[in-house]
Amino acid sequence: MSILKIDYDSRAVSGFLPADQIAAYDPALEQAEKMLASKGGLGADFLGWLALPSSMPAKTLDALTDCADQIRGLCDVLVCIGIGGSYLGAKAAIEFTGTTFEDQRKPRVIFAGHHLNSDFLSDLIALLENKEVCVNVISKSGTTTEPGVTFRVLREFMERKYGKPGAAKRIIATTDPNKGALRSLAAAEGYQTFAIPSDVGGRYSVLTPVGLLPMAVAGIKIKNMLGAAAEIMQTCSLSSTADNMAGRYAAIRNLMFRRGKTIEVMATFQPQAHFLCEWWKQLSGESEGKNNTGIFPAAVDYTTDLHSLGQWMQEGLRSVFETFLLVKKTKTALTLPRFTEDGDELNYLAGKTFEEINREAYRGTLLAHTDGGVPTTTLTLTDRSEETLGQAFYFFEKAIAISGYMLRVNPFDQPGVEAYKTNMFALLGKSGFEKQTGQLKSKLKDLGL
Ligand code: PA5
Repeated sequence: MSILKIDYDSRAVSGFLPADQIAAYDPALEQAEKMLASKGGLGADFLGWLALPSSMPAKTLDALTDCADQIRGLCDVLVCIGIGGSYLGAKAAIEFTGTTFEDQRKPRVIFAGHHLNSDFLSDLIALLENKEVCVNVISKSGTTTEPGVTFRVLREFMERKYGKPGAAKRIIATTDPNKGALRSLAAAEGYQTFAIPSDVGGRYSVLTPVGLLPMAVAGIKIKNMLGAAAEIMQTCSLSSTADNMAGRYAAIRNLMFRRGKTIEVMATFQPQAHFLCEWWKQLSGESEGKNNTGIFPAAVDYTTDLHSLGQWMQEGLRSVFETFLLVKKTKTALTLPRFTEDGDELNYLAGKTFEEINREAYRGTLLAHTDGGVPTTTLTLTDRSEETLGQAFYFFEKAIAISGYMLRVNPFDQPGVEAYKTNMFALLGKSGFEKQTGQLKSKLKDLGL
């Protein structure tokens, strides 16, 4: 019997889609589930994430918690270097479960290597100068440019600060178990390493050491997170849309897409869920955007964005459906004070918590957007705990995999990401890319660039 900490409510969509149309997806769901279980579908070599909540060896979990304890004892700041799937999951988890301001966190986990910017790195080095530092460099391939060049700079900093052997004790590499430049470098330098299972791709790797080590350093109880995710594995494998909420969400996405609603807006009412939405954007966009198809995933932060994008949501192009992402219970419950003189005319709200006010903002938005022709559904997370988040991660991974199969794409590859990389390597003069360099330069010349 699973303990559900998330609830996917599709009632608000029923005005747009009769329930029987959702149920009509049961055979497609059953087929997707079969392909996942039998490893008979596209991308079958990358299905290791399916069993991760229950298959992670106790030895690995103990090693992760031991390493996290050591890091916590050694440093004020852990710098996590990575991009895409090697960054967003841990960032989402720390923001979702943690205190709001970075100064309130010990150690601080700072993320780097997810862009190319001198000013960011210079400011980071200046901040680290008088702090105790550890570094976790994370790359499945071990060859990604952004984390690679960032690690070079941080490695030089660490070796200057602690000496080569001292730095080696404070650098942990999370990478492919057998191959890649980072694996070889870690072996040569004697860094502690954690392996990303070969059959788990970047955006499905949040419940591997990629996400778990930074989370454990931040104080998240990773065993509880995995345990809770394991609780919903069975429910998320059922073959009826009525029982399998991941399947129901996937079916609704597919129906919406086929009716011309090509953009899904994930709308959260909690600032702490911002990066969960960023993680979901990568999961969805990189899994489905191929073969000239795929829902475009966008995200907004309400109520902030109701004062900007809210206008577009209410009256813009009707190519959009909206998924509200709510958190039922905040960690605190602040009530609005009453003033004897009601100068700001807000006494009518006195005694209410911010969450009570926020709930009416959600309900008002749902009604307004529905009236404005936007189909909506609501995903409610029980609270900001690691258990709830573990289930949310698994729910989304499962739903997007099913949704990808319903679109007949391979949800586990990302051939499109290579196009920019190849061009960049050729333009930067990486060896092996000489042939493309001349062609690209002449194309750029034609464009006046
Ligand atoms: O989902 C993916 O595979 C990608 O987004 C990767 O996570 C991203 O490109 C980083 O790759 P790597 O971990 O190999 O550095």
